[in-house]
Amino acid sequence: MIPMINLKKQFEGIRDEVLKSLTEVLESTQYILGPKVKEFERKISEYHGVSEAVGVASGTDALHLSLTALGIGSGDEVITTPFTFFATVEAILYTGARPVFVDIEPDTFNIAADKIEEKITNKTKAILPVHMFGHPADMEKIMDVAKRHNLKVVEDCAQAFGASVNGKKVGSFGDTGCFSFYPSKNLGACGDGGMIVLNDRDLAGTLRGLRNHGSKGAYVHERIGFNSRLDELQAAILLVKLKVVDKYNSMRREKAELYNRLLAERVVCPKQKDGFYHVYHQYTIRSPKRDEIQRKLKEAGIASTVYYPLPLHLQSPLSFAGYKKGDFPAAEKAAEEVLSLPICPELENSAIERIAEIIASV
Ligand SMILES: Cc1ncc(COP(=O)(O)O)c(C=O)c1O
Repeated sequence: MIPMINLKKQFEGIRDEVLKSLTEVLESTQYILGPKVKEFERKISEYHGVSEAVGVASGTDALHLSLTALGIGSGDEVITTPFTFFATVEAILYTGARPVFVDIEPDTFNIAADKIEEKITNKTKAILPVHMFGHPADMEKIMDVAKRHNLKVVEDCAQAFGASVNGKKVGSFGDTGCFSFYPSKNLGACGDGGMIVLNDRDLAGTLRGLRNHGSKGAYVHERIGFNSRLDELQAAILLVKLKVVDKYNSMRREKAELYNRLLAERVVCPKQKDGFYHVYHQYTIRSPKRDEIQRKLKEAGIASTVYYPLPLHLQSPLSFAGYKKGDFPAAEKAAEEVLSLPICPELENSAIERIAEIIASV
């Protein structure tokens, strides 16, 4: 069996350090917003070259709290992509704002930056780009549009820890950058976790309040907030993994290059645009024979996943928005053709060769 990812093998490589870090927390008995969360926030802000980082309970909460702190709510519109995980749009809907979709670039699966401007209305308050599968969205163009129209930008970096554009890390372009530490992510916890990175001290203060019941501390509450704190035990694990995440990302890139070499003649391989540093959270091919490829891989005991089979504008909870099939042809075509293959730092090259042989046979 070749799984999509191999967290068991990853754990073996860092077992002693993880257990040591967890024991420190257990012995300290500081389980909520303790020193490990503080240290992890500091290291994450250094890593991204930003002044602030706020640990929260999940990537979804990072998005929701960011939009809330930026004052986005009922009557507002937020521009985003229809080709992403459902959480992106849930975060917008939680605030009472309306998601407005823009179709994707077929080669990177990211929001087409050139098409954003035509969707801006007097209700538009923010743009929420997603760095799909680890390839950064075109942040320089998106920031330019946002500046000209005075819009906020919240980056969904859930799938792209360590990715960059012309050397600048994703998450450091927008008003906030939102990360998920869901276990399968490039930097994954052993449970849920999330982080918001930003350069605005006041906004960071608002976010720190929002994640902790709207509290200023000492049981004085400025607003109605949430219980959305990054767990101290997860921070202890993440501190260990942060030290190796760049190495893991380069290993993912090597695996992706091998796939590219072996599959180039057979399917459409993922692209990396010039100046963009792709971290291959997923290695996602396109083929009109996608279902047949998936069936053959399954018969051979090889996992593969369709991320995502139904674009968000066609999901039933979005039916109120009045979108229909045909509205976003590039996203709809991607949903019919994409297939994500196993990729992780631990994946053996021989497994990639085996997968490529099966794809060639189709
Ligand atoms: C693009 C995207 N946005 C948001 C999320 C939500 O993150 P979480 O599961 O940590 O809430 C995920 C992943 O799970 C994701 O892939």
